[in-house]
Amino acid sequence: MNIRLESSSPEETHALGTKLGKLLQGGDVLCLIGDLGAGKTALAKGIGEALNVQEPMTSPTFTFIIEYQANAQGTPVRLVHMDLYRLNHPEEAEVIGVGENFQEDRICLIEWPEIAEDILPEDVLELRMEGSGEEKRVITFHSQSAHWTERLDGNL
Ligand SMILES: Nc1ncnc2c1ncn2[C@@H]1O[C@H](COP(=O)(O)OP(=O)(O)OP(=O)(O)O)[C@@H](O)[C@H]1O
Ligand SMILES: [Mg+2]
Repeated sequence: MNIRLESSSPEETHALGTKLGKLLQGGDVLCLIGDLGAGKTALAKGIGEALNVQEPMTSPTFTFIIEYQANAQGTPVRLVHMDLYRLNHPEEAEVIGVGENFQEDRICLIEWPEIAEDILPEDVLELRMEGSGEEKRVITFHSQSAHWTERLDGNL
């Protein structure tokens, strides 16, 4: 997969999330990778809008995992937004139940997923966000799994 997008404002990042969100379905797991302030949560909120999340989405910085009722292409799903930045050991990811969310009726967005890499499904979609402050963001997509290429190519 060779998708590379640029965003020059928080609004553009949100809009990109909305476009991406419309392509998602239950069972999808997205890893949002990038430094503090890269725009991971901004993108996640855009995805939530596309998935018809009605509650305001807040950052799971201190709660690790926040779930929302959502709807993906007409099917009810749970949107599970995680932020694992404050975990120190891989076992903690298991203790807080990260792996229990990889299910067909859930869409998972994981900020700071590195600590849980051993328990992530193989076909995750990775989004890397580069840039900080007022710089433009460069967002690249990676996956080991061909189905993501088919679903995303030409649609973002
Ligand atoms: N092009 C852009 N895209 C996204 N955010 C931007 C952009 N330009 C500036 N910003 C600002 O960068 C910040 C991104 O914050 P956000 O909480 O989304 O980052 P994050 O990657 O989730 O960080 P953390 O690792 O702390 O959770 C916001 O303050 C936003 O206004
Ligand atoms: Mg965040």
